[in-house]
Amino acid sequence: MIEKFSQKRIYMDYAATTPILPYVADAVIKYMYNEFGNPSSLHYFGIKAREIIENTRNTISNFLNVEPENIIFTSGGTESDNLAIQGIILANYPKKQHIITSQIEHSAVYNTCLFLKKFGHEVSFVSVNEDGLIDLNKLEKEIKPNTSLISVHYANNEIGTIQPIKEIGEIAQNYNIAFHTDAVQAFCKIKINIKDEKIMLLSGSGHKIYALKGAGFLYIKNKSIIQPIIHGGPHEFELRAGTENVLSIASIGKAIEFLSDKIEDEERRLRKLSDKLINSIFNEIDGVHLNGSLNSKYRLPNIINLRFDNVNGYDLMLALDREGIACSTGSACHSSSMEPSRVLLALGLSINEVLSSIRISIGYFTKEEDIEYLIKVLKKVVNELRK
Ligand SMILES: Cc1ncc(COP(=O)(O)O)c(C=O)c1O
Repeated sequence: MIEKFSQKRIYMDYAATTPILPYVADAVIKYMYNEFGNPSSLHYFGIKAREIIENTRNTISNFLNVEPENIIFTSGGTESDNLAIQGIILANYPKKQHIITSQIEHSAVYNTCLFLKKFGHEVSFVSVNEDGLIDLNKLEKEIKPNTSLISVHYANNEIGTIQPIKEIGEIAQNYNIAFHTDAVQAFCKIKINIKDEKIMLLSGSGHKIYALKGAGFLYIKNKSIIQPIIHGGPHEFELRAGTENVLSIASIGKAIEFLSDKIEDEERRLRKLSDKLINSIFNEIDGVHLNGSLNSKYRLPNIINLRFDNVNGYDLMLALDREGIACSTGSACHSSSMEPSRVLLALGLSINEVLSSIRISIGYFTKEEDIEYLIKVLKKVVNELRK
């Protein structure tokens, strides 16, 4: 619960962005005053800033059990996805290529693929079942001689569905195709095993893991398979030009330092809270449905997408906000858009059903009493909105 507002305010929109951990903020403030150098400068101040970046690269690579030179810093998840996808297409220029992705990717992947279609490349958007899981047979059948990339997100940002990443990685490896996963929502929430899951490129973002906005990273197993999309100086192994965002990058390292030994406990704790929310709501409110998978093996511990019969999701979100609870309708990044969510439509929901949905996403600061308050408020406002 966040106490600094005059009204009791409970933040339940962690999938949109997370509050910054005090541990991270303390470190960043110290760096802000002292380590302002340009990491490319060769004097003391530059060397100190460079040290921070390289220490963070080491922290991420140790955490993911990969080599530091395979981590490229970017401005966030969107840029990491663009670098992975456009980078591979550019590296194979002038060949017309084929990309396989899913119908429910975040716009950072989905719209990048649509953009590349305009330049003559082909894209297969593989469908998902009603739980949001990609059909592996369909995915394999889409493979063509010119398929250069399979890009499937690790977990969905609206419904939390976790994809069968290991199986997709194996298919990609069998056909010798690059495999990228957008792990922006999964990174630091559940265990990721890059090697076992045969992931060749992985996108992550700082502001979803209690760090600052403005930095993310792309893991690339073999840097020679991509070309840069931002040109200028020789930063980031000549794959991403521009003076590094030292503070935001540093904040990712600090967040991982804080979270790394807590991931499993936190996953268990959040799953318990999500289960309590889902079970109580199913028991206490009629006409409620979970969008996504009921099987917790296939759902992130912190994202719960709910649909209420005869209630408009937007009205419900506003009513909850009036009661001090912040959540979202559809996808956070596009919550200002009134378009029905492409992800929920892909599950087979009608437009009406899509428009009756809200997303609750919880995190490190969510307490059991917050869930209890949410259940109490939901019962009241859903009842009022149905009158
Ligand atoms: C799955 C997924 N990919 C990519 C992004 C974009 O990340 P960023 O906001 O760091 O650009 C988001 C943000 O919501 C996301 O949820």
